[in-house]
Amino acid sequence: MYRYVLEGRKELRGEINIQGAKNSALPILAATLVVNGESVIHNCPVLTDVEASVRILRYLGCRIKREGTTIIVDSSNILRDDIPAELMREMRSSVIFLGALLSRTGHARISLPGGCDLGPRPIDLHLKALRKMGVVINEFRGNIDCMVTDGIEGCQVALGFPSVGATENIILSAVMAKGTTIITNAAAEPEIVDLCDFLNSCGAKITTGESGTIIIDGVDSLHGAQHSIIPDRIVAATYMSAVAVSTGRVTLHNIIPSHLSSIIPVFEESGCNVQTNGLDLTITAPRKLRSLRLIRTMPYPGFPTDAQPPLMAMATQADGTTVFVENIFENRYKHVGELIRLGAKISVEGKVAVIEGPTELYGADVYAQDLRGAAALVVAGLAAEGKTTVYGVEYLERGYEEFDVGLSLLGASIRKI
Ligand code: EPZ
Repeated sequence: MYRYVLEGRKELRGEINIQGAKNSALPILAATLVVNGESVIHNCPVLTDVEASVRILRYLGCRIKREGTTIIVDSSNILRDDIPAELMREMRSSVIFLGALLSRTGHARISLPGGCDLGPRPIDLHLKALRKMGVVINEFRGNIDCMVTDGIEGCQVALGFPSVGATENIILSAVMAKGTTIITNAAAEPEIVDLCDFLNSCGAKITTGESGTIIIDGVDSLHGAQHSIIPDRIVAATYMSAVAVSTGRVTLHNIIPSHLSSIIPVFEESGCNVQTNGLDLTITAPRKLRSLRLIRTMPYPGFPTDAQPPLMAMATQADGTTVFVENIFENRYKHVGELIRLGAKISVEGKVAVIEGPTELYGADVYAQDLRGAAALVVAGLAAEGKTTVYGVEYLERGYEEFDVGLSLLGASIRKI
């Protein structure tokens, strides 16, 4: 059990390179299963969730090499079509192996996914869509057994909610299906676009129609390709929050400004100056932050739920009241109790969290319970007077590559123990 020990109130200055996107790397690594050959994936972040995906690919028969942030996957010989519970339990997003396995082998047996506890996190939308595509699914004792008798049938799938994972599973099932699949009300996150870009470079035929529609024409086979993962917009938002509470001025390299279109205005609202130039973004914090007023989390291009926890930590330092409405996950306020332990004034009623600021935060021992909640506690620790110890760094390392090293380079006093 690792922990971070921070001394708060240090000004952050300098520049940082933003890692590849976790939520793009995971579905793209699953997609290499569908390719019968060698795929070369660049800018893959070094994260425990990525390592968990690599372990699953190896178990299934892939040969894998990692050279720095490049992962080479040879999926010519797939030996298995099941993923054992201990491999599934390591992260919730392993459910996207379902569609890839079905496309490649016509069979998939997985146990119900584990991962951060952000509420029930069902996969009903995934299973309903797969059944419509002709997949026979039996669920028993926490296992899901999927069988395709005579090929996956392309069809029209209307998602009740633009679920990212369900959209990914349908795409991965449809790429070699018979006929065309049309997904309406599909998720439109940049990570979905990145997955489609990779699959199209492997010979898939995926296009996007008017808002929220994705059309997949099934092809007979996919060949290997090279691809570079897009930058992680949530890691960028997290570093921006750290700068905002540290009266700092930092340049982030390797970001895509359009992916931050709903995030940058929030920082400007709080009084930060944000300048973008190509793939660089420079954020300068004001002496005093203004409140963020009202933030509703929404599917892309709305404000991303993953940025809610770190920006809540930032809101504790803003002058005035900030209201968050968490519309995506049922239970994504587990960091609130720990922020209050540091001195924050927050009240939660269902989906709504109200933050009164600015509040003096004082260092304390705090315990992370999920990935982005851990990031929120680090941001709060940077603003707190004195020493803060954040326990549960293993949650943070699921999504942040050497976050302590990055923050130290910018002038923070933070040590991993
Ligand atoms: C992806 O999770 C991301 N994970 C999450 O990031 C992100 O928060 C989420 O999308 C929303 O943007 C990865 O990409 C690996 P969803 P996913 O399916 O696919 C409900 C992080 O911090 N739902 O869009 O699981 C679900 O319960 C992680 O990096 C159903 O009800 O998200 C949730 O309330 C956290 N039935 C909502 O939809 C289903 O079948 C959004 O889920 C599927 C989802």
